[in-house]
Amino acid sequence: MRRSMALGHCICDPRQACPCDELKTVGVCHCAGETRSVPDADAAAVKLTEYVRNPGCASKISKGILQQALGGLPEMNDPRVLVGATCGDDAGVMDLGGTGNTILTVDVFSPVVDDPYLFGQIAAANSLSDIYAMGGTPQAALSIIGFPVDRLPVAAMREILRGGADKMKEAGVPIIGGHSINDPEPKCGFAVLGTCPRGAFVRNAGARVGDVVVLTKPLGSGIVAFGRQIGRVGEEAVGEVAASMAALNKVAGERMIEHGVHAATDVTGFSLLGHMAEIVKNSDVAVDLAFDDIPLFTHVAELAAGEVLPGAVERNRESVAEDLLDLTELTVGQQGILFGPETSGGIVAFMPADQSEAFLRELHERGVKQARTIGVVTGRAPGGQIRVTKVMAQSKEFAMEETKATTADTGSCCCSNGHAAESALPAAASAEAFKTYMATVNAPGVLGVKQKKMILMALSIAGRCEPCVKINAKAARDAGATEAEIAEAADLGIAFGGAPAAMLYNTIRKG
Ligand code: CO
Ligand code: CO
Repeated sequence: MRRSMALGHCICDPRQACPCDELKTVGVCHCAGETRSVPDADAAAVKLTEYVRNPGCASKISKGILQQALGGLPEMNDPRVLVGATCGDDAGVMDLGGTGNTILTVDVFSPVVDDPYLFGQIAAANSLSDIYAMGGTPQAALSIIGFPVDRLPVAAMREILRGGADKMKEAGVPIIGGHSINDPEPKCGFAVLGTCPRGAFVRNAGARVGDVVVLTKPLGSGIVAFGRQIGRVGEEAVGEVAASMAALNKVAGERMIEHGVHAATDVTGFSLLGHMAEIVKNSDVAVDLAFDDIPLFTHVAELAAGEVLPGAVERNRESVAEDLLDLTELTVGQQGILFGPETSGGIVAFMPADQSEAFLRELHERGVKQARTIGVVTGRAPGGQIRVTKVMAQSKEFAMEETKATTADTGSCCCSNGHAAESALPAAASAEAFKTYMATVNAPGVLGVKQKKMILMALSIAGRCEPCVKINAKAARDAGATEAEIAEAADLGIAFGGAPAAMLYNTIRKG
């Protein structure tokens, strides 16, 4: 106080003359060590979201602005960096020697719920999610908290930190330090260090033709939060969403590795399509999604139908190239859901079709009840392509059916329909590679499903594989082949395979 008066400037806020406004209005002198006393009231009475400036636009900076800001930065050519900032992946990966890789991420955001303890839990689950999405195991965390100490009771800050600590404990991750800052807008987040076996991290690239797309949590957290803020849904709607946001992606992250996932990311502020666009672009593949298969929180469809959509929807849409998308079958509201910002959303995983059923079963058994298959990679497409239809297009139902038929039939078979290959190839790795190859070959490409199945049927006749002839003939019929077309294709197989093939085909037709 004495120094402030001598200098004519407040020594806490040098822009202010001494005596400062605060001393004049409320009689508090920071320079004398005084603080505005906020009674250490019940933290439960605090409504955190009232302190957020721009809840409708989340607290993320748009991709365009980020690119501008990051554009001129010096390049870093450190050979130890395996996944760096330019990759746009969920977390960075380093090779620091030894048998594993080191994964590092940080995430901070402003409150998405009013309850401080719950907010802390969500912030922790959200920060851990980027490690799980990379297929890593989180090992340690640092907390980051921004808090308006002169406006909110310290009990609220304690509750935020307690929520975060409890969630980290659930994940088995010690918090080994942190940083706090006096901030008019509350914020919480964590830097998380993770590890994985050398080279075993999962990128937002590498999806393959024939992969099935699995989403592990419902969509619509941003839409419900916005609906709540403008009074269109009640508090009970927020409860369902909050429980999901606070749930760890641990099981999904661990199990997807076991099932040979090819590519994955977690769904957060840039929306399902925003995050998926990165994967399809980086993998040069075309994906078909079925809107009706996508899990949604209870009130989301209804809110979106009334265009109760936050501003982030438009921003997310602008950041995805228009020619990458085909959403013509969807309403404005449905498109809004797919571009809605999510907080601590699920993992979207691209994995071999024959693994997805077991993966989903394990998730459901371990409490990740809403995980669903939402689409399939149908072919290669330079620059990527996402088509969303109301219900799944023919090709996927068909692919699923074929997978089932193939696994059900374990009879010995000479043809290349997947099931024979498993026993014929002893090494697991080459069997896996062969399966992937088969999925690629079987997926619709330049030739449609019908043509491919008729060719496969003819080959099966020539190769004298009875179950294969049956499977492919049925598949060709399901894909629209007429009896005349099937007969003509069969003749080609018979012409090539000779009398034994003709006998086999006649037996099948009679049976
Ligand atoms: Co992420
Ligand atoms: Co993140």
